[in-house]
Amino acid sequence: PVVPSVAIARRMEKLGADAVIVEGMEAGGHIGQLTTMALVPQVVDAVDIPVIAAGGIGDGRGMAATFMLGAQGVQIGTKFLVAKECNIHQNYKDKVIKAKDIDTEITGTSTGHPIRSLRNKFTRQYIKLEKENLGSEKLEELARGSLRKAVKDGDVENGSLMAGQIAGMVSKEQSCEEIIQELVSKYEESIGICRRAYE
Ligand SMILES: Cc1cc2nc3c(=O)[nH]c(=O)nc-3n(C[C@H](O)[C@H](O)[C@H](O)COP(=O)(O)O)c2cc1C
Repeated sequence: PVVPSVAIARRMEKLGADAVIVEGMEAGGHIGQLTTMALVPQVVDAVDIPVIAAGGIGDGRGMAATFMLGAQGVQIGTKFLVAKECNIHQNYKDKVIKAKDIDTEITGTSTGHPIRSLRNKFTRQYIKLEKENLGSEKLEELARGSLRKAVKDGDVENGSLMAGQIAGMVSKEQSCEEIIQELVSKYEESIGICRRAYE
């Protein structure tokens, strides 16, 4: 289970989960309210099962940071959107690659289902409707098929380009193998830097 709070992590442990994925609100897609930095150590302290950290991890430094907080694994989404093996439309990939740190937006807060995606015509229209408070029907109408528009049609204006804040650090298309090799080598480098700082 992917959890956004200590209470839900505890509940999942009680129900027999083998591990929990603790996801901060930096992440792409459906999100909670807390950041990875604040949430991971609190869940690590609260449960006795392994914690996998997610949200805002873009390279080995992020991975090392969450391991420092007590995580035993990481789940990465946004970085893999531009993997060569990922079959989303090229227009979507190009938008992720071009994105800067401040280019994501949260829609759906008013419905209780917040989603982080890249800012575009779709998110602007959605947020405008949310502010007008006209009810969920209009919002549902706007959102219907929006992920397909982005993923299949490459419609980067009317589609929902779900992506996390770390998109600003995603700069090129790579194979999964390259992404993971870079991740591990940067992780080892980061751990080495920490070790030397202590010595
Ligand atoms: C395009 C996209 C679609 C996603 N779809 C799902 C989903 O269907 N179910 C889910 O549990 N998480 C989903 N996620 C969240 C990822 O599994 C992962 O936890 C998250 O992307 C990690 O944060 P990051 O985006 O900062 O790497 C999605 C993420 C993205 C970017």
